[in-house]
Amino acid sequence: MERTHVAVLASGRGSNFEALARACAGRGFPARIVLLVTDNPEAGALKIARAHRIDAVVVDCGHRPGSMSRGSSDEILRMCRDRGVDLICLAGFMRIVGGCLLEEFAGRMMNIHPALLPSFRGLHAQLQAIEYGVKVSGCTVHLVDPGVDTGPIVIQRAVPVLQDDTEDSLSERILAEEHAAYPEAVRLFAEGRIRLEGRKVLIKDA
Ligand code: GRF
Repeated sequence: MERTHVAVLASGRGSNFEALARACAGRGFPARIVLLVTDNPEAGALKIARAHRIDAVVVDCGHRPGSMSRGSSDEILRMCRDRGVDLICLAGFMRIVGGCLLEEFAGRMMNIHPALLPSFRGLHAQLQAIEYGVKVSGCTVHLVDPGVDTGPIVIQRAVPVLQDDTEDSLSERILAEEHAAYPEAVRLFAEGRIRLEGRKVLIKDA
């Protein structure tokens, strides 16, 4: 069977992109990454794409931080169509995706967030968790809807919050779980095991 074609959108370091690329390179993994898009010419993700021989494109998404120009979403949509992309994975992409790109990929676009949603949406989720005083945080892979970190939840992994945690130490422990959760979510999607019922994601047994 043809493997699921994935495009990854990343703005920075790219460790989740790398975790996905490694998983996809594994024997029998049902998906492959056909495109990396970044809005940042300095993104570490570009180097990772080169190392994995993944086609990478820098797109100028406009000057408004956090949002995308209309032209840039159209351009990304066109590139995804050209490559037969089935699933878009946001991996530290620092802009809100909407418009025609989200419309066409509704139910086929995922994001990873470093907290147990619906708690601590938005930026600095790990610091928010420490400051709130929760004892457990973690990461969430969710489908993207028009809100910020509000879409249906596919997978969550929990991480204890320690008394002496800093933003960095908690982020590092959560990141290790992110690197396992994201490939798992992509596998579920690629195996056709995800079904949406209202805002609940139901997962079929293998
Ligand atoms: C991760 O913590 C992810 O959950 C959040 O942004 C960070 C991206 O890190 N959305 P990386 O670029 O994948 O290393």
